[in-house]
Amino acid sequence: MATQATEEELAAGRGYEALFVPALFAPWSGHLVNSVAVHAGAQVLDIACGSGVLARTALDRVGPSGRVVGLDPAPGMIGAAKEVEPRIDWVLGGAEHLPFGDATFDYVLSQFGMMFFNDRAQACSEMFRVTRPGGKVALAIWHGVEENPAYRDIAAVLEDHVSAKAAESVRIPFCLGNPDPVAGLLSDAGFGDVTFETLSKQATFPSPRMMVEVELRGWLPMFGIHLNEEEIAEVLASADTRLSRYATTTGEAVFQTSAYVITAQKPGAA
Ligand SMILES: C[S@@+](CC[C@H](N)C(=O)[O-])C[C@H]1O[C@@H](n2cnc3c(N)ncnc32)[C@H](O)[C@@H]1O
Repeated sequence: MATQATEEELAAGRGYEALFVPALFAPWSGHLVNSVAVHAGAQVLDIACGSGVLARTALDRVGPSGRVVGLDPAPGMIGAAKEVEPRIDWVLGGAEHLPFGDATFDYVLSQFGMMFFNDRAQACSEMFRVTRPGGKVALAIWHGVEENPAYRDIAAVLEDHVSAKAAESVRIPFCLGNPDPVAGLLSDAGFGDVTFETLSKQATFPSPRMMVEVELRGWLPMFGIHLNEEEIAEVLASADTRLSRYATTTGEAVFQTSAYVITAQKPGAA
């Protein structure tokens, strides 16, 4: 795994932080830390931290006596995260091999990361290993693309104007729509008290075309898909028309997103 972000990777990480996070991901972080009642002084791990929005929310909760670690395999994400919040320990790595000792953390969190893990059973075993007895895990996971139709529509624009691979990269985050198999993986790893709740939150983009522009500039580069400015302009012109149903009277694009938050506890005394 490369440790130093290239300029291109860092630009994608910054783009993700500037464009995606406020529009789509920030609304979920408070709910995730509340779902397991992260307390002052706690040790928290954020797996698949991206540019770090959940880790930053956790830092606000644990305060100066606590510690937050953010882990992600993408050097550009870790580089962007460091720029925003240097008080968090940002670690390059994957969920399947957590570079931490047994029973290190009171809370292990992950917001919209599980869908990308190469080996989800191994990742759950690793989460269990690094969680303290009595500690808790909380994962936010999107429902399927049918429950998130704006992403079905964005993928269709990319399918027609970029490539099937680009469209697929937008659909991947919606591949774990059924919580039961995820609950099963957590139980198999040893966690108890596995519960989930369904939630809907509003996404707000500055315009319909921005719904697609964030994908072009902040997401597709993670999959090695880079478009030049001329190509980007062509896709965005189509987005103006095809995503116009999401426009409000003020020109913003607004739509509901649907996900579940699954929580579980490691047996034993806290
Ligand atoms: C949709 S982003 C979510 C980022 C962040 N949690 C947020 O809410 O903004 C998914 C993240 O999963 C990371 N990821 C991909 N494969 C992973 C793996 N095997 N282990 C941990 N993280 C992974 C990606 O690099 C990316 O940053």
